[in-house]
Amino acid sequence: MAHTLSTLAYLVASILFILALKGLSHPSTSRRGNMMGMVGMAIAIVATLAQPGMRVGGIGLIIAGLAIGGTIGAVVANRIQMTALPQLVAAFHSLVGLAAVFVAAAALYAPTSFGIGTPGNIHAQSLVEMSLGLAIGAVTFSGSVIAFAKLAGRMSGAPILFKGQHPLNAALGIVLILLIATFVATGGPAWLFWIIAILSFALGFLLIIPIGGADMPVVVSMLNSYSGWAAAGIGFTIGNLLLIVTGALVGASGAILSYIMCKGMNRSILNVLLGGFGAEAGGAAAAGGNAGPARPVKSGSPEDAAYIMKNAGKVIIVPGYGMAVAQAQQVVREMADLLKKEGATVEYAIHPVAGRMPGHMNVLLAEANVPYDDVHELEEINPEFAEADVAYVIGANDVTNPAAKTDKSSAIYGMPILEVERAKTVFFVKRGMASGYAGVENELFFRDNTMMLFGDAKKVTQQIVQALQK
Ligand code: TAP
Repeated sequence: MAHTLSTLAYLVASILFILALKGLSHPSTSRRGNMMGMVGMAIAIVATLAQPGMRVGGIGLIIAGLAIGGTIGAVVANRIQMTALPQLVAAFHSLVGLAAVFVAAAALYAPTSFGIGTPGNIHAQSLVEMSLGLAIGAVTFSGSVIAFAKLAGRMSGAPILFKGQHPLNAALGIVLILLIATFVATGGPAWLFWIIAILSFALGFLLIIPIGGADMPVVVSMLNSYSGWAAAGIGFTIGNLLLIVTGALVGASGAILSYIMCKGMNRSILNVLLGGFGAEAGGAAAAGGNAGPARPVKSGSPEDAAYIMKNAGKVIIVPGYGMAVAQAQQVVREMADLLKKEGATVEYAIHPVAGRMPGHMNVLLAEANVPYDDVHELEEINPEFAEADVAYVIGANDVTNPAAKTDKSSAIYGMPILEVERAKTVFFVKRGMASGYAGVENELFFRDNTMMLFGDAKKVTQQIVQALQK
């Protein structure tokens, strides 16, 4: 009876986790999604504590762990700045990886408690699951620690490259597979378990150091996926259905997110994983359009922009990385409100990889209380640029660059872009002529219907707001 109840509770929790993921796919349902995830987790914890055969001491230890971990998590999450979220997520993934290593070790040293055999005589199938969970968990741990350090600026975000790097990683991967096979064939000796752990930690470290800081969001999402598979592997070892389901959900959703991000950046996942991107791009970005003979551009003042927008019927705002850096989202909404009062239709166009993390722009706009109905995805908004009087591009660059459609030699060729150039007037708010993350010059800056508004995104928009209020 108790067993049936706990299976039922696990089933309910699994369904809630699936609904949570569905809810998180849109800003308007994301709060509900989060809530469902929390309720699912609470049910899972209570059902686990109520499992038949659970000892009082064990329950006490779990509750103590929950209290300590939960308090630290709540304090950190409360204090964290929105811009520091990627590194927080990386830090959390490292803990998931480490937890998988600890659970695998517990299963190795106390197999009877998990019903997978006796010490020195563990079932072969459990040894396979345990060693895979261990290896993936250890790679996730050390990889996430490096991702955290790069994102948090604790180490240089530049790719660390050395000769023979990829062959070394490939060799390490092959050695690990052979060691896992030996571990299973020899009945799971503890010394081999720890060698696999150490080599996997080393592999995680080596895999992530060549990847540039700006590619880290893709890596974090990929490590998220790994942590899910590690948890699923461990779920098989300890015979916990919910851990298998949850691990598979995390593994699959992380993999899909990595795929979507790579597609939005027109990169293959292999290209990201082999690393090195951003080393040359950073240099080019720094040089930007300042290199070579200067081409004439039309630049205007915030007052000019305010005058044109005041008379516009439709304005589309295109936010990018620069808006995040300048923290201009609040003042952008103020500008949109004033334009709406003047009778204009104002919409926001979001590119899937605008900014530096998935959903970056959505989060910032939600923070500024921009109505969800005004925010549109790329496919939805692109046909509307032709009807717009103004495209207000604030701190975005690559996501508008037509080279992605026309220049086969360009690093961004093939990336879908927001077709801002089809609007009657395009304003580019940025500090200078520098290129964006991909280091590619944007030919739109030199077009007749473009007006550059040079300056910090927040300051320029504030000045437009003041001019509109006059
Ligand atoms: P970018 O192409 O990187 O351009 C951002 C622009 O903002 C820069 O050209 C910069 O020009 C300007 N800027 C910086 N600080 C500013 C400030 N304080 N005020 C005004 N402007 C400022 O950004 P995007 O269009 O959002 O494209 C995102 C890029 O990041 C894509 O190439 C994408 O592939 C890549 N990426 C995205 C992700 C995700 S998941 N979103 C992950 C990794 C990489 P100035 O220096 O002249 O001001």
